[in-house]
Amino acid sequence: MNPRQITNQIDLLGAIDWDRTVFDSLIPLPDGTTYNSYLLKGSEKTALIDTVEPGKAYVLMNQLTQVPEIDYIISLHAEQDHSGTIPLVLEQYPNAVVYTSQKEKLMLLDLLPGLNPDQIITVEDGEQLSLGDLTLKFIYTPWVHWPETMSAYLIEENILFSCDFFGAHLATSKMFADEDPLVLASNKLYYAQIMQPLRKFVSKNLEKLERYDIDMICPSHGPIYNIPEFILSAYDEWVNGTTKNVVMIPYVSMHNSTLRMVEYLMSSLCDRGIMVQPYNLEAADIGQLATCMIDASTIILASPTLLGNPHPLLANAISLTALVKPKAPFLGYIGSYGWGDTVSKKIAQMAAPLKKEVLPFVTAKGYPNEAAKQKLDDLAQLIFEKHTELGVLPK
Ligand SMILES: Cc1cc2nc3c(=O)[nH]c(=O)nc-3n(C[C@H](O)[C@H](O)[C@H](O)COP(=O)(O)O)c2cc1C
Ligand SMILES: [Fe+2]
Ligand SMILES: [Fe+2]
Repeated sequence: MNPRQITNQIDLLGAIDWDRTVFDSLIPLPDGTTYNSYLLKGSEKTALIDTVEPGKAYVLMNQLTQVPEIDYIISLHAEQDHSGTIPLVLEQYPNAVVYTSQKEKLMLLDLLPGLNPDQIITVEDGEQLSLGDLTLKFIYTPWVHWPETMSAYLIEENILFSCDFFGAHLATSKMFADEDPLVLASNKLYYAQIMQPLRKFVSKNLEKLERYDIDMICPSHGPIYNIPEFILSAYDEWVNGTTKNVVMIPYVSMHNSTLRMVEYLMSSLCDRGIMVQPYNLEAADIGQLATCMIDASTIILASPTLLGNPHPLLANAISLTALVKPKAPFLGYIGSYGWGDTVSKKIAQMAAPLKKEVLPFVTAKGYPNEAAKQKLDDLAQLIFEKHTELGVLPK
């Protein structure tokens, strides 16, 4: 991929990673990703904002063969998918200096052994760097998604370089997002897994950006937002909006007894005008679960008893929920057992750290009988009342 021009003085460099299927050994990438790097050609100085994942270093280094000099490498985030190729760029441009936040300098020295600390200059929040006719202002945007993350704002062009903030794992040669719903879906998936657990910080950073006129957002993953409102309003909704009239049911069932309970509850909820999203944990991936957690008001965990415990797939889903910290105020459990209901107590213990209002658990010995179905109807009615109180039911 050759460098692509964004404006007269700014090029998009970096790599499109079509083949990558997982990130951080955790996050499924259904659509690959990109590592964006930006070249800013000022009248006096040239700056490169972020680099690429080391595995794709050859793409960036190839692009840079057309660039005679780089004066500044701006590193907005220490994670290796952006910082990992800094050592190679420095090798090629030994007079270049790295500009980064104070916290990030220490992290870069930890993560990229061999860097020369004297080649790294730290900037304060709000500090500016002149490239001649272009000026970058550094804006500390901590915890999107690491403690050191910052953004850079190009004053003359009203362009925000936001690194992972507003990023989307989407391998595409499309340079601008426009108002493409596919980009939005991809961005929501990214937000769900990377930003959602940190949304209090995201909210503060969104507020901080309000005082800037922004005509374009250039993230480090996925397309560029040429209509910033498109992504800013979506973020505002995900971060600050209320949950929806949705019950999420992550479930596992070995012999379909718990599945019958899920189906019955689902139908009872639908009768009451409540949307239900069941996820078979044998197949559902983390991205689907985390995305649903943005909107769900109630989470119903569903699992049979296995060796006195919930099925490990459900235990895993509870761990994920603890990490993601969804907004959903309500949580419940349903499930089938063979000879002893030992799971309810364990679920109660495992779910306590999630700090949710716990709804009555419904368990059934074997296949759900009429008594169990009545309890599921009662649960559906209670959820209806809770959603009504919450104000998420359609008026
Ligand atoms: C591997 C395995 C371990 C089980 N361990 C327990 C147990 O410790 N306690 C219990 O009450 N039932 C146990 N059961 C029985 C199941 O909980 C029971 O069959 C339940 O109805 C299965 O629900 P399902 O059809 O949703 O999988 C076990 C079943 C299997 C297959
Ligand atoms: Fe990152
Ligand atoms: Fe990243």
